[in-house]
Amino acid sequence: MNHDYNYYNTAIKNEALPLAFVDVDFLDKNIKAIAERAGNKNIRVASKSIRNIWTLKRIFEANKKYQGVMSFTGAEALFLIEQGFDDILLGYPIIDKNQIRNICKLTKTGKKIILMTDCISHASLINSIAEEEQVTQPICIDVDMSSDFLGLHFGVYRSSLISVRDAKTYITQLLNFKNVKLTALMGYEAQIAGVGDTNPANGIKNFAIKFLKKKSIPEYTQRRKEVIEYIKQKCTTLEIINAGGTGSMEWNKVEDGVTEITVGSGFFSPVLFDYYDNFKHLPAAGFALPIVRQPKDRMFTCLGGGYIASGSVGIDKQPKPYLPEGVQITENEGCGEVQTPFVYNGKQSLKIGDAIFFRHSKAGELCERFNELYLIKEGSVVEKTPTYRGMGKCFL
Ligand SMILES: Cc1ncc(COP(=O)(O)O)c(C=O)c1O
Repeated sequence: MNHDYNYYNTAIKNEALPLAFVDVDFLDKNIKAIAERAGNKNIRVASKSIRNIWTLKRIFEANKKYQGVMSFTGAEALFLIEQGFDDILLGYPIIDKNQIRNICKLTKTGKKIILMTDCISHASLINSIAEEEQVTQPICIDVDMSSDFLGLHFGVYRSSLISVRDAKTYITQLLNFKNVKLTALMGYEAQIAGVGDTNPANGIKNFAIKFLKKKSIPEYTQRRKEVIEYIKQKCTTLEIINAGGTGSMEWNKVEDGVTEITVGSGFFSPVLFDYYDNFKHLPAAGFALPIVRQPKDRMFTCLGGGYIASGSVGIDKQPKPYLPEGVQITENEGCGEVQTPFVYNGKQSLKIGDAIFFRHSKAGELCERFNELYLIKEGSVVEKTPTYRGMGKCFL
């Protein structure tokens, strides 16, 4: 499958630029490949890395292994229920009382929405609202999966349940709450799932990352195992034991106890997901900017492009020129707020009006910059589908 510059150029030749697109043929291949990578585990779809209803539906229609959404806010979870989705695990705690109340009301009607917690203040807030609503609200606990090696923190700071002992204490305390039920356990090993092995921006740090990943896997696996055993002893069996992300599937799929793996970024497969040794997915999303000026020979300027990704500031957070080959962003200006200059040393004879294709460094954030995604299939635009933003929704 060769989707080169001419392929995309022909597909969008009648469309106004800038635009964001999804290559549906590549997306479908990624959906299939991710289902295979999961082995016999289910996959929960991380909506933050998609932010488009059409794509979410396409994933669920493709394979029965795709079960449930990991949502990123309470408002988004409520929106997804309105859109016809069910089985939603909130990936992060929420403290908005109205949203918790509305979720409890939906629980009462039989919808499955699980709230994330990692401390007593989360649990007692949910419990008090669930009590008022006369419902038992399912909750999940998030146990930290990062590793500390000789004072070096390898992972992220999220949950307050850092050790097995922290988790045990919290699980025991939860038994005192009558209107919440512990039904799920989540542990997100961000240092494996979200850190590439060969990101050029990390330079020689990549050697250390590889070493630390190897060291971290058995360490957090043991922690998760002990927490699972304790929950089994103390309460009922858990419905869901959720782990991982796009970058860690190969380890999650062989881990006993884990029932499902969360995956989001792998479907669009943005630039930061090019840098893993354990898989390669196809670049299924991007955006096209028009050349509007030519300041000098071999140098052009596009309209738009400053769609920098979140996280620690670094060169790898800016979009990467994709097609045609030979486009190079300047160090001084990068991807600009409304203008992106580039040097061109490729084979095309570019001119004002031509499109330049870029890929975002992350997956879902592209959809916060465009109202629509143009769906390209077998060489032409077959449909335009609104992003969350295009539906008037901005959750974070
Ligand atoms: C809790 C949680 N689970 C899973 C993921 C994995 O998502 P992705 O596949 O998009 O990397 C993330 C991403 O940040 C996350 O925060």
